[in-house]
Amino acid sequence: MTVVNSKRFDGRAVLITGGAGGIGRVLRAGFEAEGAIVATVDPAGGDYPVDVTDPAALELVCAEVADRYGRLDVLVCLAGGSLGTPPGIAEVSSSDVDRVLDVNVKGTLYACRAALPYLRESKGAVVACGSIGGRQPSPVTGVVYAAAKAAIGGLVRKLAREVGPDGVRVNAVAPGLFLTDRVGAMFEALPEEEKAAVRGEIALGRMPELRELVEPVLFLAGEASSYVTGVTLDVNGGRFMPL
Ligand SMILES: NC(=O)c1ccc[n+]([C@@H]2O[C@H](COP(=O)([O-])OP(=O)(O)OC[C@H]3O[C@@H](n4cnc5c(N)ncnc54)[C@H](O)[C@@H]3O)[C@@H](O)[C@H]2O)c1
Repeated sequence: MTVVNSKRFDGRAVLITGGAGGIGRVLRAGFEAEGAIVATVDPAGGDYPVDVTDPAALELVCAEVADRYGRLDVLVCLAGGSLGTPPGIAEVSSSDVDRVLDVNVKGTLYACRAALPYLRESKGAVVACGSIGGRQPSPVTGVVYAAAKAAIGGLVRKLAREVGPDGVRVNAVAPGLFLTDRVGAMFEALPEEEKAAVRGEIALGRMPELRELVEPVLFLAGEASSYVTGVTLDVNGGRFMPL
């Protein structure tokens, strides 16, 4: 008797922007453990060292991935963050504003646009990345980041409507504070009372482990969520609970 050990993403090709970062690395491992072939776009050590603000480069990457693996099934858009910019509106420069909006918002749009011809063929899925900072004011991040991540919700809803008839689903996760190297340093820099206030808001009473973002993303990327589109899934331990 042959035992077939099929995994959820066997033979599927997944592209992750910002995939060399803290969350990207655990997500890559999560997809690979489920059989996926993963390629990353990231100037800091990605398989494709490409900036997501370069639409033409993203088109080349998607074409190459589709050519090499014969398909593209999932796009995960992680490239982003507050990118070292100061949180206060008075301190943030105009070029900081451009950079944060360009990478988080335009980068997500450009990656979606470049991937969509292949996602239409595979009836694939996009998982974009919002943030608790775009869902409610967060003490850790600033106003530009909040605006950029709030825009991801609108992008996901409208794009889901546009490409739904083609069988492509578009959703987002909105993580709470996941203590990667970058965010861990930002959190540690907060005054003790602010850190205590953040911890006190978390219904589950603890900070998350990085692996706790993997299943929510795999869920939105795969068959288990075949009738879910246009949503932002809050993954924050109950720190923010929208109506
Ligand atoms: N860690 C958290 O607590 C948290 C919470 C909410 C949302 N997020 C979001 O999750 C995503 C990943 O964050 P992370 O914590 O892994 O951060 P990270 O800084 O560890 O990783 C981000 C990656 O994006 C890459 N990147 C930056 N600019 C890029 C560009 N122009 N083109 C391509 N790649 C680029 C960086 O090189 C880096 O490897 C970000 O969008 C962030 O805003 C993170």
